[in-house]
Amino acid sequence: MRRAVGTILEAGFQMESEAFKTLVEKGREDSLKPLVDEVLKMASLAQPRPLFISADLVLKAAEQLNLAAGLTVPVDEGLGHGRRFAEDRESKLEVVFDPTGKLGTTGAFDDFLRYFRNRFEKMSALFRQRIDTRSAGTISDALAGGTNGRGRFVAMVVEKREKANRIFLTVDDYDDEATVLVGDSNPSVWQTTRRISRDQVLFLETRKSSGKLLVAENIVLPEIPDHKPGRASDEVYAVLVSDVHVGSKVFMEDAFGRVLGWLKGEVGGPDQRHIADRVKYVIIGGDLVDGIGVYPRQELDLKVPDIYEQYRLAAKLVGEIPEYMDVVLIPGNHDAVRQALPQPAIPKEFAGPVYDSRRVVSLGDPSEVRLEGVDFLLFHGTSLMDILSSAPGFDYQRPVEVMEYQLRARHLAPEYGKSTPIGPEMEDWLVVEHVPDVFESGHIHVPGSGVYRGTTIVNSGAWQGQTDYQKRMGLVPQPGLLPVVNLQSLQVRMMDFREKDNRKRRDKKKREIAEKRKKDNQRPQFRSGLSREQRAFVFPAWPGTAGFGPYSVLEARIGSPRLVVSNLERNS
Ligand SMILES: [Fe+2]
Repeated sequence: MRRAVGTILEAGFQMESEAFKTLVEKGREDSLKPLVDEVLKMASLAQPRPLFISADLVLKAAEQLNLAAGLTVPVDEGLGHGRRFAEDRESKLEVVFDPTGKLGTTGAFDDFLRYFRNRFEKMSALFRQRIDTRSAGTISDALAGGTNGRGRFVAMVVEKREKANRIFLTVDDYDDEATVLVGDSNPSVWQTTRRISRDQVLFLETRKSSGKLLVAENIVLPEIPDHKPGRASDEVYAVLVSDVHVGSKVFMEDAFGRVLGWLKGEVGGPDQRHIADRVKYVIIGGDLVDGIGVYPRQELDLKVPDIYEQYRLAAKLVGEIPEYMDVVLIPGNHDAVRQALPQPAIPKEFAGPVYDSRRVVSLGDPSEVRLEGVDFLLFHGTSLMDILSSAPGFDYQRPVEVMEYQLRARHLAPEYGKSTPIGPEMEDWLVVEHVPDVFESGHIHVPGSGVYRGTTIVNSGAWQGQTDYQKRMGLVPQPGLLPVVNLQSLQVRMMDFREKDNRKRRDKKKREIAEKRKKDNQRPQFRSGLSREQRAFVFPAWPGTAGFGPYSVLEARIGSPRLVVSNLERNS
């Protein structure tokens, strides 16, 4: 510290006492010299040149050195810094589930029948685990009761029709079929139903009407239970990367290079370096390369139009990850492997150079791994856009809500036959049978994180700028942010590897989008599942109003001038 102060004085500056304190606080042993250098650089450039170094200036310099600001702090060479925390730590990675080697549908009619029956059985088993839905009967039982007879059963949705404010679900089980009417007189059931899609498996409580018509009194999603997640015994980290898109014209090579530099301990301020030293696991959640022929006119977006070359380039990057870290790789829809879910691991024929570059645990999509006792569900997220586009109230800029819905529906691709291809396998591996502690997806190119009933949800964003295709589709990605999960606390930190100028431009763009949405009145104020017209007057119940819970929403609807009270569940 004495030498640091001496350097400042020699440069012709005085120091305020607060600045000295800040320097002590911010400058750890190994970062003091770069911090002082930065302070002097900023002070020399300032106009007018200051006489005194202020605490504010030290803070600004510390911020500049921060990795988020895009600057690098070179590691002092020749000092022989010690081994890194994670380097001496034994790997605690277990593969819990991998679909690779289990797949092999022929697509015959019988395969489809078996697939859907398996889905129904797996889901029914989930409902049997719940106390409130354990005693389910069948559709036949519900239909056998006289008028107004009550029924409780598990069924799969065959068809869904909406007419004005009424929804008709055709549901079936092994023996029978019925039509279930959901009216808006029961708003919470009506709202749940609005998001329900074909092929979902539900628990229904009904009242018998005429013929094969049942009126819904309650509809229950399989849900995940609130649970206490597993945690690592020490502060150790997993880095979640996805959608790198090597080979794309807008692959953010520099930003990704900074990630690799940070993992190697070459860049970053003291805090970032502390985390980097403790990173033991790197998950690559699909779309490592941009692929070829994935969407119409993709060739216009490609810098490297050769899939083998794309993987060769990717291998160079993956090979830079320090050897003592465990790398887990799953495919995405841009990788060179079958597109139908579940996807097996990317074959050696294409990703061979990646596998040769270092040790890689290559799995299918979806997969489950246990890292330090924390259960991860890894899913590229190919179905996210299907769910987004078919259910009301979702927005691709908030991917965590869609992922939360997948957990509630206990299925990664609830509706069959949309734009996500699904292989009718012997078993439905897309059912979320085991409740994960961390659920990771990518695909949307917008990062985010949240917690739902003890499960940490993370979308890992992207390392690709906006493609022409995305421009045409009106999609604005948010690349360059890296989620890092502390496996001890399960806290997620979004590390910013974007360039400063880029970040400012993107933040401005983000503000513009928000403004535009506000103007268009398109942004839902509450997740009430109402259409734009119906959402004309939505406001929260005021505190303490009798009969209304803290998440109640009052809706005054156009064309029906009455108040409807929706008791929304938290996070629903
Ligand atoms: Fe992607």
